[in-house]
Amino acid sequence: MSLVKLIDLPSLGDERGSLVAIESLSNVPFEIQRVYYIFGTEKGISRGFHAHKNLQQLAICVAGKCRMLLDDGKTKESVWLTSPKQALIIGENIWREMHDFSDDCVLLVLASQHYDENDYIRDYSEFLRYVKC
Ligand code: TYD
Repeated sequence: MSLVKLIDLPSLGDERGSLVAIESLSNVPFEIQRVYYIFGTEKGISRGFHAHKNLQQLAICVAGKCRMLLDDGKTKESVWLTSPKQALIIGENIWREMHDFSDDCVLLVLASQHYDENDYIRDYSEFLRYVKC
């Protein structure tokens, strides 16, 4: 099964422009506890490089584009996020890296838990050990 799970978000746009609405447990398969966004990423910078033990996330490029690399310890898959109408689901125990941010990229992330540094695995060897046991 592919690591890349994309959801099409319904656009409620009309002749005035576009609008996307996101609701907990409706078009997002978890209760949203936290929202953050990444923007103004400097040229050549990549981010992420971690996994979570207990966190569901949905990533949406609401402006610009970036490339998300997902890795479950066995397979790596890369996907370009280029549309505010598409959301990428990232489940637990997935190593993620974000690359190739466009200057105008705004990456919105919806998360199922509050921020908890203890939930992070930031060391790749530790991640491989964690998913293999
Ligand atoms: P970090 O996890 O390094 O970001 P990324 O994975 O995108 O490279 O987060 C950067 C800093 O922000 C770090 O000090 C932790 C803090 N942070 C919060 O306080 N709350 C949050 O929800 C997030 C995502 C990060």
